[in-house]
This record gives sequence, C-alpha cells and structure tokens, in this order.
Amino acid sequence: MRTMLVTGGAGFIGSNFVRLAAQRGTARIVVLDALTYAGNRANLEGVEHEFVQGSVTDAPLVDDLVRHCDVVVHFAAESHNDNSLADPSPFVNTNVVGTFTLLEAVRRHGKRLHHISTDEVFGDLPLGGDEAFTEQSPYRPSSPYSATKAGSDHLVRAWVRSFGVKATVSHCSNNFGPYQHVEKFIPRQITNILSGAPAKLYGSGAQVRDWIHVDDHNDAVLAILERGRLGETYNIGAGHGHITNKEVVEMICELLGGTYEHVADRPGHDQRYTMDATKIRGELGWRPQYTDMWVGLEKTITWYAEHEDWWRGAKVGVEKRYAESGQ
Ligand code: NAD
Ligand code: TYD
Repeated sequence: MRTMLVTGGAGFIGSNFVRLAAQRGTARIVVLDALTYAGNRANLEGVEHEFVQGSVTDAPLVDDLVRHCDVVVHFAAESHNDNSLADPSPFVNTNVVGTFTLLEAVRRHGKRLHHISTDEVFGDLPLGGDEAFTEQSPYRPSSPYSATKAGSDHLVRAWVRSFGVKATVSHCSNNFGPYQHVEKFIPRQITNILSGAPAKLYGSGAQVRDWIHVDDHNDAVLAILERGRLGETYNIGAGHGHITNKEVVEMICELLGGTYEHVADRPGHDQRYTMDATKIRGELGWRPQYTDMWVGLEKTITWYAEHEDWWRGAKVGVEKRYAESGQ
C-alpha cells in the first residue's frame, strides 16, 4: 500500500482531508504537524493514521519522513490573514522556508508532491465585475499571508522546471466546514451568536469570497492526486464567487436567530475572489457536491452547535485579540 505524508494534517482542511482519504482507503497516512495554535490532535480522533509532531522546517526530520513515503500532500501553513498583519514572521518561516525544505527532500528522494495553495495569490478582483481567476491570472498578492503563499508557489514551480520535481499545485477559494478555527469568518460568526454576542462584519460587508465546503476541496485534491498531470496547476472553486460577506452573515443570523454589527475594516482588505474552475471540471471531471452553499452552511452551524467543547477553549483568546484591534 502507498504511504501518503500529509503535512498540516491536524489543522482544519488537513484533518478533513485525512478523514476523507482514510475513508477511501487510498493509502497509509502519516501526518506531520507542529501543533501550533491551529493544530489539534482531537481533529483526527477516530481516524486511522500515524502522527509525528514536528515542523516542516526541520530538514532532517522532513528528509526521513519523505524518504519513507510515496507522496507528500502539503497543507501545513500559517493560514490567517489577520494574524499575518500582526506578525508576518511565522508566515515567512513556515510557508516559504517550510515549502523549500519539503521541496529539497522530494527532490533528493524523487517523490511526488502536491502543494495546497490559495486563490489569494492572485490578489483581488473589483466588486461588481464578472471576471474570475484562471490558472493564467498574474500573481498579485496583497497581504503577508498571500505573499508567502505566492512565494511558496514560485518555489514549487521553479523546482518543477529546474530540477524536474514531480509536483502539482492547486489554488482553492475560501473553505468552510467542521473543525475550522474560530478565528476565521464563518466559525467566528456562528460561535459569537451561540455565545450570545453579535456577529462582526468588517467594514461594509460588500466583499465577496467564493465559498467552498471543505469536503469538496479535498475531493478535488484526491482527484488531482489520482488523475492530475504532473507540473500542472488547478483552480478549485464551487461557483459561489458572487455571495457577499453581508449575505453570509445575514444567513447565519437568520438560521441561529442572532444579530450582527459592523466593525473596523481589515487594512488592505481584498474585495472579491471568484474562481474559474473550468480546467479541473473538464480535465478531471471533478464536481462540487455542495452546489447550494446554504446546505453546507446549515450543516456547519449544526456541527458547531453540537461541538462547543471543541471551540470554547480557543474562543476567549481569539475575541480578546480581535477586540484589541477594534474588530
Ligand atoms: P489551519 O491554520 O487550520 O491549519 C494549519 C495546520 O498546519 C495546523 O495543524 C498547524 O499546526 C500546522 N502547521 C503550522 N505551521 C507548521 C509547521 N511549521 N510545521 C508543521 N505543521 C505546521 O489552516 P487551513 O485553513 O487548514 O489551511 C490549510 C492549507 O490550505 C494552507 O496551506 C492554506 O494556505 C490552504 N488554503 C486554505 C484555505 C482556507 O479557506 N482555509 C483556502 C485555500 C487554501
Ligand atoms: P477570513 O475567514 O479571514 O478569510 P480570508 O481573509 O482568507 O478571505 O475572512 C473572510 C472574509 O470575511 C474576509 O472578507 C474578511 C471578512 N471577515 C469579517 O467580515 N468578519 C470577521 O470577523 C472575519 C474574521 C472576517
């Protein structure tokens, strides 16, 4: 049986990926995760895997794990824009140096790598337009987070071209679903209302994100691992790149019976992300299951309502930090 090394497998998307891949029984799974504030062993409870606590920047450890696997799926990253504005340094270290460390190991050992990237490397689109990001869109990152993700993408592309490394890259839009940290938009609003506080909308709330359920993202990653062409990049999106933050908050308020308020805007706030996923649909036959975002949102709300023990511990610290920046 093949061995898959999953970095960042104790985080939001990574742990949902490990659960899905274990269900499909495609490989023996080894998770490498540093267990930062965003990583949680509880996310993998009941899922068959082996766990190694460590950093993707630890070259000897990474070398050993890569040597003993067949394929690496690289989710590990510092992932939150607001945190990158407060302190960019861990973003440079994990996202850039960590990806470099993995690339050198897969190069030495001739292993396949799939690199998880984001639509945010393309910058933003104006509100009100109908254009979308394609795989050919120019890189134009706005924040320290997206700049370090762009940096890591460039390293992967260069290692493919210069050294013939067997790699693929995917750019996905904003994910939502179970096990997402309460610092992020959708879980923050759900857990605010469940805590009796109003939801918090940055600025006008006119910004647009192309929301995708995490299981649809991970199903696309599995399709790329199975059928994707080496050296290629694939955009992943579920066709929701027209729904505003205000509409999402209003829906959460309606479903949970809460209210919202406008708070300080994010500096440099990207306006709109909309993905063109024509390539992955056409080439790999991938389709999202959650074509109606509200179905996935309702399910996610139910999950948070039933898992207060999972999120309550992190909530106080997160809200304290947001309050310090007027958010
Ligand atoms: P997350 O913050 O929930 O999880 C990140 C995981 O990486 C955590 O388990 C953390 O402990 C681990 N980690 C951090 N630094 C590490 C290090 N140095 N070594 C090993 N492990 C480390 O993030 P997420 O939302 O699950 O995002 C996962 C990946 O998907 C990231 O690469 C992110 O850029 C990308 N992505 C996220 C979204 C989104 O909407 N969340 C959208 C597109 C792409
Ligand atoms: P976020 O989940 O931080 O993802 P990203 O910055 O990667 O898009 O935020 C999603 C959108 O929601 C973004 O436009 C910022 C906005 N937002 C709020 O309006 N209120 C909040 O409390 C948070 C955390 C985000």
